[in-house]
Amino acid sequence: MIELPKLPFADNALEPFISEETIQYHYYKHHATYVNKLNELIKGTKYDELSLSSIIRDSDGAVFNNAAQVFNHTFYWNSLTNESKTPSEKLLAKIEDDFGSLESLKEEFIKAGTTLFGSGWVWLVREAGGKLSLKQTQNADTPLSSNLVPLLVCDVWEHAYYIDYRNVRPKYLEEFWAYINWDFVSETYDKTDNDVFIGTEVCNDIHDPFCDILQSKVFY
Ligand SMILES: [Fe+2]
Repeated sequence: MIELPKLPFADNALEPFISEETIQYHYYKHHATYVNKLNELIKGTKYDELSLSSIIRDSDGAVFNNAAQVFNHTFYWNSLTNESKTPSEKLLAKIEDDFGSLESLKEEFIKAGTTLFGSGWVWLVREAGGKLSLKQTQNADTPLSSNLVPLLVCDVWEHAYYIDYRNVRPKYLEEFWAYINWDFVSETYDKTDNDVFIGTEVCNDIHDPFCDILQSKVFY
């Protein structure tokens, strides 16, 4: 049984970047529907007892799509805040190593979100060797499927921005950048800054630092 995690901010906290009306649809309808649908699909199956990330790693078809969308949306809400934040010193140094500067990362992130064809997600991820890179995923796909560690995500499905920005996705991505919860990104980077996570299959493994994040107060 998977629960809909609480939003980490008030419904109107992200205005004017994201309106309360968008939250009413995006969180209370879209995200909630993925949770409800997933619970219908896994009831009485082997997935009923598994954690969300274990379901994602083990499933395909409708179960995967709904489980991944639950995870992706939870990660998206936690990537956002109405408080002004900056990356930790350690994360900033890594960003400068791999992207040149925070400004370059911003430009590349917005470009990746703008050029993603159709519905999907743009992620900052940590690769197996430790390098940071950008990853576009289509529809419900998630970096967990590629053994990449997600650090930051922006939802570029139209339901994420159409009420507030109509068809102007680049404007939504530009505004997104000012509302990033760098505390969350930095904390996730710290907790996954080793290779233990890579290849781990079972999310109740206490040696899997990503499970720790999934099961921490940040998520559930
Ligand atoms: Fe969404």
